[in-house]
Amino acid sequence: MKIKKPRILTGDTPSGRLHLGHYVGTLENRVKLQSQYDTFILLANVHAYANDYTKIDQINDNVYQVYLDNLAVGIDPNISTIYLESGIPETLELYSYFLTMVTHTRAVRNPSVKDEIKYKKFDPSMGFICYPILQAADILGFNASLVPVGEDQLPVIEQTREIARDFNKVFADTFVIPKAMVGRVPRLIGTDGQNKMSKSGHNAILLSDDEVTLKQKINSCYTDPSRIHATDPGHVDGNPIFEYHYAFNPDKAEVDDLAKRYKQGQVGDREVKDKLFIALNNFLTPIRDKRKYYEQRPKLAKEILVESTKKARKVVTKTLKIVRQKMAINKLI
Ligand code: TRP
Repeated sequence: MKIKKPRILTGDTPSGRLHLGHYVGTLENRVKLQSQYDTFILLANVHAYANDYTKIDQINDNVYQVYLDNLAVGIDPNISTIYLESGIPETLELYSYFLTMVTHTRAVRNPSVKDEIKYKKFDPSMGFICYPILQAADILGFNASLVPVGEDQLPVIEQTREIARDFNKVFADTFVIPKAMVGRVPRLIGTDGQNKMSKSGHNAILLSDDEVTLKQKINSCYTDPSRIHATDPGHVDGNPIFEYHYAFNPDKAEVDDLAKRYKQGQVGDREVKDKLFIALNNFLTPIRDKRKYYEQRPKLAKEILVESTKKARKVVTKTLKIVRQKMAINKLI
């Protein structure tokens, strides 16, 4: 008998092209685990509408860029299923049942939601406040056991677990209780040295940045503000150029040597940045190449997305049959 692989469900709310922080936070785990797990990756376009439903063209462009980014880093469409969230209306049906199970107090208490509202300083839509409940439907619709996400998403996965447990308690065992998995660098600092790397913070190095842009971003990257001359002892912790060396330079001896000399005031920012450029450029070259491959084959890219979405929908459709039965929702017709 074929042993069923455990399942991964993860994805991104498309708000722009993905960056180095996404890579070490979650993309790397997806790519590594895709052969061990039955992997589903969603392009969370309904989540994007919850941020601003008026920006239709921008959302669709963002979805496409995030799709290409996933393929570019090595998500293999022959192994993993990468699909469009809105292509599975059953997810939204599940979401509406879950909405009835979560109190208002619990919804607004979610730290991920609270933090984002504070950071973005906006009057959130109901869709935004309830996005963790939609996310629970994304995940539980597949009965995924593992969810690779960025650190900021941990409270969302906690809420998914709660919904699954509540449902199981009332309607008997239905859902697998999923676990979150955070990448090897949970919070990659941005090029401004102040905040975590993010698109909206304008402090990101994108996976699709070309050489010239990469060079320019590294050159203008914040380093150690307390260090004025190359002979001043410098700090490496919290210093973006070192954080990036640690995360992306495979030559550990080189990084250790630079860090040692930096702390002693024996190396200038120039040399550290030049070596960082080489390391990051080597890292990004195959990613850019794979992106180009799909960019030049839009028909193939679309075909994959259409077929994968169909395949993903079949899984959720099965789940919904069970859920409707358990909830006796159509008992009278
Ligand atoms: N909210 C997630 C983010 O902003 C994206 C997302 C939507 C997601 N649905 C998901 C992640 C399901 C994991 C599983 O990054």
